[in-house]
Amino acid sequence: MTRYSKVIGTGAYLPSTIRTNEQISETVDTSDSWIYERTGIKSRRIAGPNESAASMAEIAARLALEAANCDANSIDLIIVATGTPDRVYPSTGCLLQQRLNIKNCVAFDIQAACSGSIFALSIADQYIKSGAAQTVLIVGTEICSRIVDWNDRGTCILFGDGAGAVLLSASNEAGILSTHIHSDGEYEDLLYCPNPQVATELNKHETGVINMRGNEVFKMAVNTLGKIVDETLEANNMDKSAIDWLVPHQANIRIIMATAKKLKMSMDQVVVTLEHQGNTSSASVLIAFNEAVRDGRIQRGQVVLLEAFGAGFTWGSALLKY
Ligand code: COA
Repeated sequence: MTRYSKVIGTGAYLPSTIRTNEQISETVDTSDSWIYERTGIKSRRIAGPNESAASMAEIAARLALEAANCDANSIDLIIVATGTPDRVYPSTGCLLQQRLNIKNCVAFDIQAACSGSIFALSIADQYIKSGAAQTVLIVGTEICSRIVDWNDRGTCILFGDGAGAVLLSASNEAGILSTHIHSDGEYEDLLYCPNPQVATELNKHETGVINMRGNEVFKMAVNTLGKIVDETLEANNMDKSAIDWLVPHQANIRIIMATAKKLKMSMDQVVVTLEHQGNTSSASVLIAFNEAVRDGRIQRGQVVLLEAFGAGFTWGSALLKY
């Protein structure tokens, strides 16, 4: 019998503080209309001074456990995707394990920038399918606001904070149908965030903020996401019409619309959260997935395509039967 990874619970957390486009316009030369027209974003959430990637992950994870009616100690693997870990080490996964008081499981972080949750889904699926794990908790959690240069109008308008979680369990019923992940390290210069503490002589003057050549990233994202959609459909011998929902990474409404167009999907079948959240990097796909599961849009048995693109470049998709 085929062994699948099935979604048994989802959760998400967004900090309460809202930063609007108007507020950003008070400090950099931009406007609400420019930001909204070019990105689809109106506001984003900003973590409080006592919040961290691990604290937000804990809230999202507890909600996913509650939704699945599952005890934390039945988790045998935690994978956290984050580009803003609380500490260099221990991993945010281990910090989350401590917060959830789980005595006996494996926990680690992965770093794939905005594609982190898709990479984590892919890793988790391999563990479950092989029989190495039974129940896996995946969390994408990010405090982008702390690595954004709030004087750079090309980046500070885009990002927000939050966490999304999904709990997977081994099942004989169809769940994750396939995952597809890719990396190409050639494009470091287009999107990166330095780590000044470990700088070499060459990059010791860099500060630890997001650097991006937005227009070039935009074009790469549109092309690459178009290709990953084809790859996913081909691998499953599936027609685009079989997909009920697209849950894309929430970077820019124009990138999302281009992928929906490629799939000939109406925007009613696309889960969009970025208007009031911005780009929450590795958390964004799981936050959007949780929203559409909880408000009843995504129903059991429906086919859902999740996809993302991020620094690296990294990109990927996960096709699942919910
Ligand atoms: N407000 C007003 N003007 C702005 C601006 C802002 N916030 N940001 C940039 N501009 C200006 C630029 O300075 C430039 O001015 P110039 O023509 O006088 O030189 C002009 O707008 C066009 O800049 P460009 O970068 O070509 O704009 P764009 O249409 O590509 O939009 C982004 C910029 C950042 C919104 C867009 O490129 C984007 O969303 N890129 C993808 C980002 C992304 O997804 N990153 C994460 C991947 S995971």
